[in-house]
Amino acid sequence: MDIKYDLKPKSQRRTEPFKPDKTLPFGSLRTDHMFIMDYADGEWKNPRIVPYGTIDIAPGATVLHYGQAIFEGAKAFKHEDKEIYTFRLDMNAKRMNKSAEILCIPKIPEDIQMEAVHALIDVDRLWFPEQEGASLYIRPFIFATQDSLGLHVSATYKFMVIISPSGPYYPKGFTKPIKLLITKKFHRAAPGGTGNAKAAGNYAASLQAGEFAAKFGASQVLYLDVTNTYIEEAGTMNHYHILRGGTVIIPEFTDTILKSITSQSIIEIAGKIGVKAKQERVRLDNFIEGIKSGEIIEAGGLGTAAVISPVGEYVFEDGNSINVNNNEVGKYSKKIYDYYTGIQTGKIEAPKGWLQKVEKRV
Ligand SMILES: Cc1ncc(COP(=O)(O)O)c(C=O)c1O
Repeated sequence: MDIKYDLKPKSQRRTEPFKPDKTLPFGSLRTDHMFIMDYADGEWKNPRIVPYGTIDIAPGATVLHYGQAIFEGAKAFKHEDKEIYTFRLDMNAKRMNKSAEILCIPKIPEDIQMEAVHALIDVDRLWFPEQEGASLYIRPFIFATQDSLGLHVSATYKFMVIISPSGPYYPKGFTKPIKLLITKKFHRAAPGGTGNAKAAGNYAASLQAGEFAAKFGASQVLYLDVTNTYIEEAGTMNHYHILRGGTVIIPEFTDTILKSITSQSIIEIAGKIGVKAKQERVRLDNFIEGIKSGEIIEAGGLGTAAVISPVGEYVFEDGNSINVNNNEVGKYSKKIYDYYTGIQTGKIEAPKGWLQKVEKRV
């Protein structure tokens, strides 16, 4: 791809490695530049890297009214060799195209998406925070820009990538499990809908449930299927639980569950971590019974931002609650977290193709 570079003058961009004096928050900082590409007349064109800043968008743009937008979330890490490596970015690119299909958005070849991310990281590589546990959080997204109030598939789009230099997700160590509200009142996705797409609208629709969860002191909800029978997701993470003996169970992917790259990765490397992993439909009643009987010893959420978020307490809408593993981080969750982050940071050998070095281009 022939990317046009319209960079900030050297005097206005970072020229020294980024050495934050405080632990960086997750997701709020930005680097100097962003990547943009346009879709019009049936093709993706005009790839460019420009200073990070506001963009022009018509007030009648489809995305602002009907939410035709999708996104991804990935990470890059710095290894001991001082090089930056993206982690399983091909999986994000593939999922972006799956979301594109579901939202009627034109696809972008995976290699083009990856090149866009690598080129942007290359330009802003000095922004990698020199801090233990840090990463670059990568946010590629596509949105509909056609200025039309008729409800139909947009004829024009923008694909953009922005980067957030981020501190460790667990600045105080991997210590405190979260609390989830088991809700039968709110549902994240319906069969035949957009639950298996990373569609912006799914997240807007989840805000209400998040606010409701907070009333119970919970950080998120545990979503069930529309019949309130099966466990689906843990807020914006896949759910997992671990059986005595170390078998990790993740709900089977359906069209109401986002196919998590973290889940898929853990399933792939379970043997190496020293656990077993499988996917099946998980009945809520069996899950609760399993916790009570001691058959289920750990549970939590899986996703790029946190990797693993152990849950220590599930609260019901009637105010009753149940603890898992005495509300402490369990040994299997910790083992998975350590192994997974070990791979990401280059301390443990990665399966072939999981890490891709960001080459110098400019
Ligand atoms: C609804 C939902 N489920 C699961 C996940 C976890 O997916 P991944 O592991 O690919 O980050 C995410 C985050 O991307 C999500 O938004």
